[in-house]
Amino acid sequence: MSNYQISSALSESQATIADLTSSDTIQKGTTPPADSQTAANLMAAFGGESMANRKYLYFAKIARRLGNEEVAKLFEETANHETAHAFAHLELIYPSSEQTVESVLALAAAGEMYESVTMYPDFERIALEEGNQAAVSEFQEQARESLEHAGIFEKAAKRFGALKKVEAYHAARYQAALDKLKTAKI
Ligand SMILES: [Fe+2]
Ligand SMILES: [Fe+2]
Repeated sequence: MSNYQISSALSESQATIADLTSSDTIQKGTTPPADSQTAANLMAAFGGESMANRKYLYFAKIARRLGNEEVAKLFEETANHETAHAFAHLELIYPSSEQTVESVLALAAAGEMYESVTMYPDFERIALEEGNQAAVSEFQEQARESLEHAGIFEKAAKRFGALKKVEAYHAARYQAALDKLKTAKI
């Protein structure tokens, strides 16, 4: 996998850690500064382990479909280890002892908003330039679903009385996305 692919896949998470550490929510303990190389490395390692988890589950499905249950189980067991590795990185990025229902809802909503208003529209534009209609459709569909997910988290935030904070995150993200679109070189 190229660096470009990895950084694209991680863009949502990078956006959310920047949101988090620029707020007063968390900036203590073992969380590295958002602009440090270690923060970037932890996020890259988290992304790699997370992708390995999903990839091995996908490979397990293939192996099972091809009739090799032993290899399918091998992939599934290893996928569980990759989840543990990813969680260990997350513990340093978003220490669980410092999280609240409000902060995790805000992180999740911000990530989904980023996907919906920035990441997928950017990817869609590039796919269009490269004439890949299947990718264009896929990115459009996933942008819509990310927006739905953001709405689900927003609704949950409302129920838990954390809406004001989440709305502030959204407003900041929207503005940042709009500013980026205005200055983006296409
Ligand atoms: Fe691993
Ligand atoms: Fe999503």
